[in-house]
Amino acid sequence: MTMRTRTQVGIIGAGPAGLLLQHLLARAGVDSVLVENRSREYCEKRQRAGVLEHGTVELLKEIGLGARMEREGLLHSGIYLQFAGERHHIDFPSLTGGRTLTVYAQTEVVKDAIAVGHPIHFEVSDTAVRDIDTDRPILSFTDRDGVAHEIECDVIAGCDGFHGVSRPAMSGLRVSERTYPFAWLGILASVPPSTDELIYAHSPQGFAMHSMRSPEVSRLYIQVDPDEKIENWSDDRIWEQLQVRLGHPGWTLTEGPITEKGITPMRSFVAEPMRQGRLFLAGDAAHIVPPTGAKGLNLAVADVKVLADALVRLLVEGKSDLADAYSDTCLTRVWRSTWFSWFMTSMLHTFPVSTFGSPAEAEFQERLQIAQLRQVTSSTAAATNLAENYAGWPLP
Ligand code: FAD
Ligand code: DHB
Repeated sequence: MTMRTRTQVGIIGAGPAGLLLQHLLARAGVDSVLVENRSREYCEKRQRAGVLEHGTVELLKEIGLGARMEREGLLHSGIYLQFAGERHHIDFPSLTGGRTLTVYAQTEVVKDAIAVGHPIHFEVSDTAVRDIDTDRPILSFTDRDGVAHEIECDVIAGCDGFHGVSRPAMSGLRVSERTYPFAWLGILASVPPSTDELIYAHSPQGFAMHSMRSPEVSRLYIQVDPDEKIENWSDDRIWEQLQVRLGHPGWTLTEGPITEKGITPMRSFVAEPMRQGRLFLAGDAAHIVPPTGAKGLNLAVADVKVLADALVRLLVEGKSDLADAYSDTCLTRVWRSTWFSWFMTSMLHTFPVSTFGSPAEAEFQERLQIAQLRQVTSSTAAATNLAENYAGWPLP
């Protein structure tokens, strides 16, 4: 037997995009049903992003999801760039008219949004969409008790991440992508951060980064080969590489127990347009960026802000102008973030010689990277460009 129900917006995916969209819509009186194939515990534990742009923080506060973030989030006013034995601070507020960053884990944003209590079906299977080119698209799934559901929607929002079912349900997409010749190995460690601000380090042994999650927990990353296996990286080997790559005279990196480790590939991907008929894509379902520069989560938030405004206008006021503009409105920011993530990734990582034709060509790349790093750490104009992009542009 199939349960047939109705809602205004069917949302797929309980990541930041789906959860915030559901909350924004509820605040405007638009009802929605959200389906997620993982368990609530899994969604609340998954370790990912940690840096929230100024605009993301402002939005979370404005929509009533900022209370714990304001208590527990760590306010940052810039980053360190390290290369060739030098460490430079880039001060965002003075370069951007006061914009700052907040370190507050994505998983905490997800917990805060789930805790509101909007209707979510966790642990669903067989998620599918159909009839997206009609004005009554269907979202179907099997719930965790094995009951089949079909929800008739006005609109479906595909917020189901890079490996979801929404994007493949669309046809004629224009796809652009780049795969980088390295990956990030990330750890969580039970040790107070050894730094006040995030450190991005370019070194001959490869890129490394020191971030954090709380006054007691550090988050660190090192560049590894794209086909590297986590089993090859003992805790000792990881700390040894972090010490070499982040090492700086007069500064100590304190080690501690590693509580989690994983490898993330580095890839950029954009699918356009972000809408077909009554199916709208948002967040990683439509685009991913390499993590350098911390744009993925923030882009997902920007998408759903635009989408919520467009859907409220469509479903409450009966006007389709914002929905029709949705894809173009989002893609301007998507491409700006894609450029910035490419810029940070290319400037900071060590490219394997095999990427180029010869050692001399690899050397050329390395010399360009140092020249670029010297520019952003010595020219106010170049530093301002980095700071504006990193701290993020105002939300639409
Ligand atoms: P997701 O978070 O992927 O959520 C999609 C949801 O859909 C998931 O819960 C998934 O289980 C669900 N789903 C998938 N398929 C189905 C289906 N068939 N049916 C039902 N549900 C389904 N970004 C930043 O901005 N700053 C950072 O500092 C940063 N650091 C990162 C570090 C790492 C190591 C990684 C991996 C990513 C990082 N990112 C960062 C990127 C950021 O985490 C993502 O861009 C963000 O998660 C996108 O949110 P989303 O809601 O679009 O997708
Ligand atoms: C973090 C992740 C990033 O990709 C980044 O550029 C900065 C910080 C983090 O997980 O804390």
